[in-house]
Amino acid sequence: MKSTKGTRHTEGATNGTRDLTLADVKQELYNRHHPSLTFLDIEAHAKTIHRIRALKQKHDVVMLGHNYMEPLVFGLSDKAEQGDSLGLSMYAAKTEAQYLIFNGVPFMAETAKILSPDKTVLVADKTAGCSLADNFGAEDVKVLKALYPGAPVMIYVNSYAEAKAESDICCTSANAAHIAKSLPGDTVIFVPDIFFAQNLEEELKGEKTVAYPGKDNTARGAVCEVHERFTLADLLAIRESFEIPKGHSHRKLYAHWECRPDVLKEADFYGSTSQIMKDIAARVAGDGLERAFVASECELTSNLAQEFPAVQFWTACSIRCTHMAKVSLGKIANILEAIDEGADLGEFEVTLDADVIDNARAPIERMLEFS
Ligand code: 13P
Ligand code: SF4
Repeated sequence: MKSTKGTRHTEGATNGTRDLTLADVKQELYNRHHPSLTFLDIEAHAKTIHRIRALKQKHDVVMLGHNYMEPLVFGLSDKAEQGDSLGLSMYAAKTEAQYLIFNGVPFMAETAKILSPDKTVLVADKTAGCSLADNFGAEDVKVLKALYPGAPVMIYVNSYAEAKAESDICCTSANAAHIAKSLPGDTVIFVPDIFFAQNLEEELKGEKTVAYPGKDNTARGAVCEVHERFTLADLLAIRESFEIPKGHSHRKLYAHWECRPDVLKEADFYGSTSQIMKDIAARVAGDGLERAFVASECELTSNLAQEFPAVQFWTACSIRCTHMAKVSLGKIANILEAIDEGADLGEFEVTLDADVIDNARAPIERMLEFS
């Protein structure tokens, strides 16, 4: 698809960047007092950030930012445009903007495209994958459906549109347990994340049976290559070295649903990326939170450190999602320059066949009805 030069420029845009100068942008970045943003980062990137923000506003672009984006990329999105998979899907479903740049991995942008097929949905790097979505497809859903006839298929949003189109309902880590409980029958098929399925099985114990790839069958499933790296031994060592004893009222160990079952059990709290953020926010506003370790992608912790400066965070910098890391300021700037020049957007645009959009929309919309 071709872009339309300058047509979305609107008076009185809401994000306050209209006359923002380079000096303003730098000042804003310095004012963040972000623990991992040095003056070197700010001086090196301020010009690109200034240009991105000006073009974002000029073309009325919505820029969705997943919680795993590195701080400088994350900060390009307005607060309302930041979030977890569920929150960003909900935003994509209601936005009126023509251009939607999704700073995340392509399966997330596909969800946005399915919910807003008339919009131009763009990603910085179409080759950014995800170990869950990349290793599971529509054929694998069919294998499980044949193994457990009649059981509803709940598919984790970390999957591509073709696999979703074969499923009954989608879920994210923010709503999986809630949705599973409300499905008919006593068995639910959950795909593709094997650890997530095992965690869900534990959560639904006595209420529902969870069928998943590899459980009493040879079907193909997947795990998150980032979260699988945390082991129980790591968590116990973290508790010890950072002095976060289990059950401490002001020191907490957090984990994402995609972690191994024994890791999740050890955590003081588990949830989606935004649910972890909300729990921290509630503790900070309430009795206080002194220190925390989050067993998840490391830039989530960078963004938490920005948001909650009073909390002492530790993170494992090597535990980075290399797929999410493909989204960079330079690539985002390239998308916006292409829009501005009216150039071809094919390199960035997410496209799907009309029948795939039609078939994948129902499971996503069913999920959103729960949210
Ligand atoms: P959230 O839905 O919690 O944002 O997680 C998405 C993801 O890819 C986790 O690795
Ligand atoms: Fe996929 Fe894991 Fe990266 Fe999330 S963190 S995008 S599940 S590989």
